[in-house]
Amino acid sequence: SVSDPVFFLFLRLLVAFLGAAVIQSSTFAGWFAEKAIDSNRGFQQLNTTCTSTLNESNPWWRLDLLDVYRVSEVVITSRNDSYAEQINGAEIRIGNSLENNGSNNPICAVISTIPAGESYNFTCNGMVGHYVIIHIPGDWKILSLCEVEVYGYLAVGAAIQSSTSEDWIAEKAIDRGLQQLYAGCSSTLSETNPWWRLDLHHIYRVNRVVVTNRNDCCAERINGAEIRIGNSLENNGSNNPICAVIPAIPAGESYSYSCGGMEGRYVNLIIPGDMKTLTLCEVKFKSSNDLTDSAMRENVLKQVRERNDFDSHY
Ligand SMILES: *[C@@H]1O[C@H](CO)[C@@H](O)[C@H](O)[C@H]1NC(C)=O
Ligand SMILES: *[C@@H]1O[C@H](CO)[C@@H](O)[C@H](O)[C@H]1NC(C)=O
Ligand SMILES: *[C@@H]1O[C@H](CO)[C@@H](O)[C@H](O)[C@H]1NC(C)=O
Ligand SMILES: *[C@@H]1O[C@H](CO)[C@@H](O)[C@H](O)[C@H]1NC(C)=O
Ligand SMILES: *[C@@H]1O[C@H](CO)[C@@H](O)[C@H](O)[C@H]1NC(C)=O
Ligand SMILES: *[C@@H]1O[C@H](CO)[C@@H](O)[C@H](O)[C@H]1NC(C)=O
Repeated sequence: SVSDPVFFLFLRLLVAFLGAAVIQSSTFAGWFAEKAIDSNRGFQQLNTTCTSTLNESNPWWRLDLLDVYRVSEVVITSRNDSYAEQINGAEIRIGNSLENNGSNNPICAVISTIPAGESYNFTCNGMVGHYVIIHIPGDWKILSLCEVEVYGYLAVGAAIQSSTSEDWIAEKAIDRGLQQLYAGCSSTLSETNPWWRLDLHHIYRVNRVVVTNRNDCCAERINGAEIRIGNSLENNGSNNPICAVIPAIPAGESYSYSCGGMEGRYVNLIIPGDMKTLTLCEVKFKSSNDLTDSAMRENVLKQVRERNDFDSHY
């Protein structure tokens, strides 16, 4: 049965019931944590659209993305008054840990300052995490945020391939942004029907698959590779429906293939034939919960907000 991202969010809401999706360490008057994700940068009505903690030690604000995302950028809008400098020294942290209220997660950036009412863009290079935490270490601090915008894309599941040439492991095709976890590309040995597969762990509607070819040599080896999407592992996935057959990709370039929302848990690349080598420098998939798409971003935020409303009734 079909499962779209909204369905999964709903399921998680019922099953996991982890608590509020956006919270902060304490709340000053009506300056609730949700006001940083209200899609209103707060220029006009400061007191109704920004968050604020009390004056305390180590104040923090945390957004639960309800899934693991690779975060490309976090844009923070500071308050437009003389208290703007309170943000100085705040850390943006991204990760999966709730230890120490999330402040043990890796740092994307330390905010030196954001002039009053301005929005600064912090690049996080695809850091992976379930949570985005803004945290000011120290005593007698107040954390106030007028808007926090998170851009990124859903972090995908596990990658495997039919065989591996030296250290050209399958994960190298999905490591972009993982802080250069690995250098290079994935590659199978030269064999019959080599394949590479991404297991998304859930069934997604895949809108697009973007494939980056190697640029060191032999770009033509990718020719004839099939992109297949589906739920079957029969024949190593090569019985799943075809999204596209790659005629050729010039060395080092990224070509995008539209899959029109094909549904599946597995994204397979397969080169049919003997003595073939499948080398991939990057494979990205775009599904319907890609936060770089503003409509989808709004949709995910809506889920987060609805969930907060839901939680607040219990
Ligand atoms: C987490 O934050 C709460 C609220 O500020 C605080 O009471 C608690 O001590 C914090 N926990 C840790 C481990 O820092
Ligand atoms: C900040 O507030 C001042 C008035 O206090 C206003 O003139 C200015 O346009 C505001 N800045 C932004 C970015 O909204
Ligand atoms: C915002 O501040 C203004 C001026 O202090 C006040 O008149 C207004 O009632 C406040 N609005 C809210 C929703 O608190
Ligand atoms: C943030 O900065 C990056 C790099 O300059 C840029 O590509 C991106 O579009 C910016 N994002 C936003 C939301 O302004
Ligand atoms: C918090 O309170 C302390 C003690 O009253 C004060 O010195 C400090 O300036 C306050 N911090 C902020 C950010 O207002
Ligand atoms: C699946 O791939 C493995 C590894 O390349 C291979 O040994 C096996 O024969 C393949 N199975 C089928 C049914 O093609």
